[in-house]
Amino acid sequence: MKILVVGSGGREHAIVTSIAGSKRVSKIYCAPGNAGISRLAECVDIGVMEFDRLTAFAKEKEIDLTVVAPDDPLVAGAVDAFEAAGLRVFGPRANAAIIEGSKAFSKDLMKKYNIPTAAYETFEDAEAALAYLEKAEFPIVLKADGLALGKGVLICNSLEEAKAGVKEIMLDKHFGSAGNKMVIEEYLTGREVSVLAFCDGKTIKTMTSAQDHKRAKDGDKGLNTGGMGTFSPSPFYTDEIAEFCQKEIYQKTMDAMRAEGRDFVGVLFTGLMLTDKGVRVLEFNARFGDPEAQVVLPRMKNDIVDVFDACIDGRLDEVELEFEDNAAVCVVLASDGYPVSYEKGFEIKGLEQFDDKDGYYVFHAGTKLSEGKTVTNGGRVLGVTAKGDTLPEARANAYRATEWIDFENKYMRHDIGKAIDER
Ligand code: AMP
Ligand code: GLY
Repeated sequence: MKILVVGSGGREHAIVTSIAGSKRVSKIYCAPGNAGISRLAECVDIGVMEFDRLTAFAKEKEIDLTVVAPDDPLVAGAVDAFEAAGLRVFGPRANAAIIEGSKAFSKDLMKKYNIPTAAYETFEDAEAALAYLEKAEFPIVLKADGLALGKGVLICNSLEEAKAGVKEIMLDKHFGSAGNKMVIEEYLTGREVSVLAFCDGKTIKTMTSAQDHKRAKDGDKGLNTGGMGTFSPSPFYTDEIAEFCQKEIYQKTMDAMRAEGRDFVGVLFTGLMLTDKGVRVLEFNARFGDPEAQVVLPRMKNDIVDVFDACIDGRLDEVELEFEDNAAVCVVLASDGYPVSYEKGFEIKGLEQFDDKDGYYVFHAGTKLSEGKTVTNGGRVLGVTAKGDTLPEARANAYRATEWIDFENKYMRHDIGKAIDER
């Protein structure tokens, strides 16, 4: 089989690594890919939003299956474009990816179908939002409706901060048209868990759980980032909680999307908050998480291509997902200064150390090849993942492996997965 993966980050490197482990696959392409992916796949210089070029390429190379990984093309209809061209593709159509593309849509869906989430109101004009805030309790959470690189969520501790937030989102349009609408919601506290699930439109099967660390600095300080590291599984996501979520959240969401004529086929990412009043959904994403994929996929035992096929063909009920009975930790190596400003173009040394070590992975996020060398090319540069029998062991292994890598301005958090030891 020939497979094309659309995307270029650490998540896509993890997906390509899983696909490369399938006996059914003879050739992998990735558009546009990155330096690490190019060791497993032929990278082609086509952007993720260039649907005409992507579908023409897939036809020309007689690609058997395309996997669209990032949110932007999914929300903009990449899967619809492939289907219209008669091509086989894995991912939700635009009418289902809206569960990530519009926070107002996903909140209204949860309200309509009684799926537990934070209380909220939706606003289309700034005046009404400001009037609402005058009577609100703080902290409160403001969310730009549309896609904003994971940065469109503001947690405001006072009325002043919230007013400034409304201005930023709706008037100054910091997040562009994503801020044409806004959700204001109740602030929740608790432990966050990310659960990825394969979906075929009717059946939803969850993968092992994970937790992301979104803040830039140790102790969950600093600005929100795309994610500074992950661990899997989450010890806080107990069987009892999982059972509740399967019934009251995952299957209900699947059924709700189907009832709305928006069958969801692909990977549904549920961001959960385990509050002392019970589980609440923070968000849905229409794709694998990044860096969640970097700890979840290395632990998956199934042939991922079989699972993609089962989702597309509506046979997911026949599949049993299996995960290793161990743990994994991913520490992101970033460029110092991320997520604000940082330098790029520094040579990365030590990558070859991972070649002969089972259970260790170095997933490339922002890298590129320059004159035969791999150099830094983004805020998040690499994701170093290691497995272990237990979470503390996986964590020790991952941090040991971060020392194999060297580049100028290398920055990482030192407490990924640390809460586990404090239990
Ligand atoms: P979202 O993109 O909706 O997941 O929001 C990004 C991050 O903001 C989440 O992972 C949480 O850390 C935080 N967040 C979102 N909604 C809430 C909420 N209602 N209460 C507290 N924190 C939240
Ligand atoms: N790690 C969060 C996300 O992928 O959106």
